[in-house]
Amino acid sequence: KKLAPQPENDKTTQLAAHTLDAAGEQMRTNTGLFINDDQNSLKAGDRGPTLLEDFILREKITHFDHERIPERVVHARGSGAHGVFKLYDSLSPVTKAAFLNEVERETPVFVRFSTVAGSRGSTDLARDVRGFAVRFYTPEGNFDLVGNNMPVFFIQDAIKFPDLVHAVKPEPDNEIPQAASAHDTFWDFISLTPESAHMIMWAMSDRAIPRSYRMMEGFGVHTFRLINAEGKASFVKFHWKPLLGVHAVAWDEAQNISGKDPDFHRRDLWDAIESGAFPEYELGLQIIPEEDEFKFEFDLLDPTKIVPEELVPVQRVGKLTLNRNPDNFFAETEQVAFHLGHIVPGIDFTNDPLLQGRLFSYTDTQLTRLGGPNFQEIPINRPIVPVHNNQRDGFMRQIINKGKTSYGPNGIAANDPQQVKEADGGFVSYQERIEARKIRARSKSFFDHFSQARLFFNSQSDPEKNHIVDALTFELGKVKLVEIRERMLGVLVQIDKGLATQVAYGLGLHLPETLPANGHVPADGNPEDFASIQVE
Ligand code: HEM
Repeated sequence: KKLAPQPENDKTTQLAAHTLDAAGEQMRTNTGLFINDDQNSLKAGDRGPTLLEDFILREKITHFDHERIPERVVHARGSGAHGVFKLYDSLSPVTKAAFLNEVERETPVFVRFSTVAGSRGSTDLARDVRGFAVRFYTPEGNFDLVGNNMPVFFIQDAIKFPDLVHAVKPEPDNEIPQAASAHDTFWDFISLTPESAHMIMWAMSDRAIPRSYRMMEGFGVHTFRLINAEGKASFVKFHWKPLLGVHAVAWDEAQNISGKDPDFHRRDLWDAIESGAFPEYELGLQIIPEEDEFKFEFDLLDPTKIVPEELVPVQRVGKLTLNRNPDNFFAETEQVAFHLGHIVPGIDFTNDPLLQGRLFSYTDTQLTRLGGPNFQEIPINRPIVPVHNNQRDGFMRQIINKGKTSYGPNGIAANDPQQVKEADGGFVSYQERIEARKIRARSKSFFDHFSQARLFFNSQSDPEKNHIVDALTFELGKVKLVEIRERMLGVLVQIDKGLATQVAYGLGLHLPETLPANGHVPADGNPEDFASIQVE
């Protein structure tokens, strides 16, 4: 029995139309036939063979045989919750997005928290990044803020993502380890990818073992763009600030909990919502005027960099409250298809090469995961506004589109869906001027891999620094190949010599005597250097 109140909003009403309660009902087959007995198969005699004729047996088993869909290729393990977002003050000076303009509006939200590396059944307490994906069901369509609980990322370009994930997932020959980073392939990749140095500091810190999903920050990571009604653009970084504060467990506790209750975070979130202790987070924005794009020592398009809050404070602009557990894990938490390409007028992308590649990846993977092109019709994915366009057919199409035509321009059916002018809410991409050579390369402004890694390490208290040392010593201690451990020490020494010395001591190794040329590992970790270094 649910203790928490069940709030109503446009999305819950819409979902209710698809929600079935079988209590007190009689059993039927999928074609509507009342079932007399679904516990005994049809046999030739009560001790005889089962008959192929038994359509009740076949229907029941066939459906069961197909209950599983592929787990997400990353972020497979997650927990979801419904909620609402409420704005404090109108943000119309910087964005025309309706849900960020209208203070009286309560925007329905669905959130999915996740770990990244483990499979669906892995422990919640692995040392890992946590996904923090938020969908806003706005009157202008779905807006998804598909973030993590760390503000930076391992790589600067999406083309490296398959390499990163192949390195971090269990090793291909023996599928070990299931949900941790402590293995050779991961550290081999990281030691050869110095752009990961900043993210590694976060991943080895207490941030990677949160106490609860209710007690972690969230970050949009990339720099996005906001656009106001006059067409003026600003850059923005999105943040979520938990009202319970940021808390972690100790590594020893994490390992204990993993053994005793691998569902620890899932249970905590569920129980908190059931008991009415609704998790709350404030949405924070760092807004940067477009003309300040080049005022920083780092590149705003580089996803391995934060914008320090001392330089651009985080303004808290609204509150997200998670107030309702899903009715059905599969239908909602598993079938939700987040994508940072789901945007609304007033929000737009930047040229961050990680962001740009993500724009391709999510829909592409969901076409397989959710079985074809109609997954936006699944109840949890439907926007709260009706959808009309000329897309048709495909596996599992639900909508019965009326009319003879499904194309434009169209002289036969004048009433077919019309394009929408920008002034009436039609989405128009921000017209950024681009004059450039077509080139497979990386900007030199992306080459400083260590300053912010150092900044993060130095921002930690002494106990927190010790946790980072311990985590690195533990993780690298599991690495079998000594050259990988040594290569990692070569990376760490460029972040902080004290840190590297302590980890070397813990591993029983000496710090490398000579550093790679130029005092840093080459940008691509390869002594030959790739084309990316040659950009003028
Ligand atoms: C899934 C965040 C980078 C590909 C997810 C999820 C989150 C997330 C939170 C889980 C969504 C859910 O709960 O359903 C991020 C962040 C990134 C990042 C913050 C960097 C800033 C990338 C990159 C790629 C990628 C670079 C590929 C080029 C995927 C894929 C999924 C996924 C394929 C599975 C989606 C699904 O099956 O529905 N990501 N990700 N991600 N991400 Fe990312």
